[in-house]
Amino acid sequence: NKVLILHGPNLNLLGTRQPEIYGSETLNDINNALYEKAAVNGWDIKALQSNHEGVLIDAIHAARDDGTAAIVINPAAYTHTSVAILDALNAFEGKVIEVHLSNVHKRESFRHHSYVSLRADGVIAGLGSQGYLAALDAVIRAAERA
Ligand code: DQA
Repeated sequence: NKVLILHGPNLNLLGTRQPEIYGSETLNDINNALYEKAAVNGWDIKALQSNHEGVLIDAIHAARDDGTAAIVINPAAYTHTSVAILDALNAFEGKVIEVHLSNVHKRESFRHHSYVSLRADGVIAGLGSQGYLAALDAVIRAAERA
């Protein structure tokens, strides 16, 4: 059982990037917590961060036929702009969970619309790094029920 965790642009700066909005944990902290939770449950995780839209799209394509059961994605600013990431996710048949550290609905209006939400099976916003763990938990539980 395999999950792909995708982090979009600027999330490599977590920890020092607007910590009042995004928290003080680094991306490594978040990925480590996910690896740990996955391992305990016998799941494999691949985590990837990119500042480049096409790299994220290529990773989604690769997930179509390598046995990936689900994608947990924080598309960051591409959430609000990327029809291309939406199209790639539409070509992926597993579960998709969209995660945002901040509550995007409490922020500027341009953050209220998400292209990715048109595809996502679930959306989590505003729970900080806990949101990723909740997303992984949902993926694992759904697979157990299936
Ligand atoms: C974000 C919210 C986006 O609006 C923003 O562009 C980000 C991060 C979040 O995790 O809260 O880069 O996806």
